Amino acid sequence: MKRLGVNIDHIATLRNARGELHPNPLFAAKFAKNAGADSITIHLREDRRHINDIDAKKICSIKNLLVNLEISTNSEIVKIALKLKPDFVCIVPENRKEITTEGGLNLKKNKSKIKKIISKFANKNIRTSLFINPSLSDIKIAKELKTDCIEIHTGHLANLVKSKKNFSKEFQRIKKSSKLANNLGIEVHAGHGLDYKTTKILTKINEIQEFNIGHYLIGESVFYGLNKIIKIFKKIIKV
Ligand code: PXP
Repeated sequence: MKRLGVNIDHIATLRNARGELHPNPLFAAKFAKNAGADSITIHLREDRRHINDIDAKKICSIKNLLVNLEISTNSEIVKIALKLKPDFVCIVPENRKEITTEGGLNLKKNKSKIKKIISKFANKNIRTSLFINPSLSDIKIAKELKTDCIEIHTGHLANLVKSKKNFSKEFQRIKKSSKLANNLGIEVHAGHGLDYKTTKILTKINEIQEFNIGHYLIGESVFYGLNKIIKIFKKIIKV
């Protein structure tokens, strides 16, 4: 069974836009779990633009909820993550000016740093994942670094599909990378830019066991929730 990880960072983005408490990411985490999410993803960014330290602490302490904490290789963030003890960590590249995670990790350049980080989490029995581009050489390095999982950055595929361009080359790249990782004993996840169509396309790759989806899923939820909420307000103002 393929698993769905729900990224709730954008609930915090919306909350922060008002500087108040609503909508509450803690509530979103519980709500998503009750709706069937297999895990919850939060990204504690160095700039804390959405999820903050208090959110992360509260969400990581919810019982019976699998939390996947995305972190950069920044030593302060790694220290915090080790204290938070999430179920899973996913190491991602981070660039202060980016709108979202723009690509996979540069494993070649950061080999020894990432290897040390992975072993710290492994010592605490925390599952590790590396967010990487679909590249065979990166998969081989990922194996050397002893990560449990990789998450393939699907942003390029998603952009090709959305702009109705030929995506078969990129799809094959993801497929070959997934197969190699699986053969090397690394669990394969996929994420970034996924909507209904791209997710469906990627389900054809058997080796992908987990999808981590945020922006589109939260965006769609607004539309499907509007109907109900407008009716509630109409009822309230009816005197
Ligand atoms: N996976 C990882 C590692 C990410 O960094 C992100 C974006 O924060 C996602 C998945 C979710 O991407 P999206 O919000 O485009 O669905």
